[in-house]
Amino acid sequence: MKTSTRFFSWLVVCFMAVSIACLSLTGYRVKAAEFKTIEPGVLTVATSTGFPPFEYVGDDGKPDGFDVAFIKAIGEKLGLQVKVEDMEFNALVASVGNKTDVAIAGMTVTDERKLAVDFSDSYYDAVQYVLVRKGSNIRCMDDLHGATLAAQIGTTGNLLADDIVKENPQTVLKTYDRFPEAVNDLKAERVDAIILDKTPAQTFEGIYSGEIEAIPGDDFDFEVEEYAIALPKGSEQLGSAINKAIAELKSDGTYDRIINEYINADSGEKSNGIVDQFVSAFITSNRWTMYLNGLCLTIQIAFFAALVGIVVGTLLALMKIAKNRKGKRTILSFISGIYIDIVRGTPLVLQLLIMWFIVMKNSKDGVLVAVVAFGLNSAAYVAEIIRAGILAVDNGQMEAGRSMGFTRAQTMCHIILPQAVKNALPPLCNEFISLLKETAIVGYVALSDLTRVANQISSATYQPFVPLIGAAVIYFVVIKILTLLLGVLERRLRKGDIR
Ligand code: ARG
Repeated sequence: MKTSTRFFSWLVVCFMAVSIACLSLTGYRVKAAEFKTIEPGVLTVATSTGFPPFEYVGDDGKPDGFDVAFIKAIGEKLGLQVKVEDMEFNALVASVGNKTDVAIAGMTVTDERKLAVDFSDSYYDAVQYVLVRKGSNIRCMDDLHGATLAAQIGTTGNLLADDIVKENPQTVLKTYDRFPEAVNDLKAERVDAIILDKTPAQTFEGIYSGEIEAIPGDDFDFEVEEYAIALPKGSEQLGSAINKAIAELKSDGTYDRIINEYINADSGEKSNGIVDQFVSAFITSNRWTMYLNGLCLTIQIAFFAALVGIVVGTLLALMKIAKNRKGKRTILSFISGIYIDIVRGTPLVLQLLIMWFIVMKNSKDGVLVAVVAFGLNSAAYVAEIIRAGILAVDNGQMEAGRSMGFTRAQTMCHIILPQAVKNALPPLCNEFISLLKETAIVGYVALSDLTRVANQISSATYQPFVPLIGAAVIYFVVIKILTLLLGVLERRLRKGDIR
């Protein structure tokens, strides 16, 4: 085993080094404050991204935009640290006062919402616009009747669309959780018009200039709306402090500065040529570091999951082949058989979710949960690999071992297992390669691995091509390198210079 031991120690050391380099610790300091908030000293804010320029997923994968900058400025005035949570728009009102302290999401003040929440003073005037494909003949209200409309669920645009459908039942309304999906369907001719707020409509028009256009709400007689921050009902102290902060930010010029930064700035992200797309997907705001961190996380999870898989898998394999003195199968082999069956008979993504939401529901460490879930899954496959490796060792070896005075266990440990591991090495390496790719689903438990990073960047740049193909290339290169190393190992095994 000398050369192979060296080879593997080398691999292990490399992965350890990479993994350790990836572990970074971050900490926030919390300022004490006088307000009663869900988490002391912290203002927990709900928003709903996909509504540029008010809220969208920023370069670092976290919510950014006018509202986010504005509420952070307000938080600073109040002496509260601001924590932003991204959720679907129609979940916002319900979350205020229970999961979050306030919501800011370009939210229009409406009588209906006032039944459930209080509102701050308004901070922005808006109106609904209509977004259509370039060259569309939709120009006024009459044209919307009978068309296929789109709106975001629970928005004021949704209410206007409902009225149109009521008046003309031929009209079809499709509702979406987030606007970017609706815009995608507009471009793909799956819907004819989207009813959405003016500034986001203009932003989308800018992002996809030449493909879609925004028609002013005046042409449809839509009324003016006002945006405000939603607060828990009856929160006078917090409400008046926020109103005071808004007034101060308006008079000290901060409000205008944020408006200029987010709303009047031309959206620099727009890029059409492939080189521009590459620049915005990799170079702008050092996005390449996000892919790198994502890749590190992917490797880290796969590596530790593989360790768990090998240890548990070997145990399972030994259990499965265990026989009692009479040479009959034992309860151990039964248990291990059932485990392997269940793991192989259910989707990995479900196993991950069950681990995250049920089995380890108190763990906040997504990486740990992922390592356990992937490790236990991999164990089932590793068990079969090792079992096949053991069975491939000639039967006579056990007899030989026994006749030399070894016990069954000793023969297993010193004679059979080493050979079994040698047989199993190539498929074990393949298992590791599969693990690397399978970790692409950890986005489900809010981890930013390589796949999720690519997805985040594609929604930040509105250009999916380069980030998605780029991530595929990165996976491919890493796996190709591993496969080449594996090839070298296999050739040596076959030549017999590894024993
Ligand atoms: N102003 C509209 C409303 O209050 C739409 C807001 C949508 N906001 C969002 N973050 N998606 O209904």
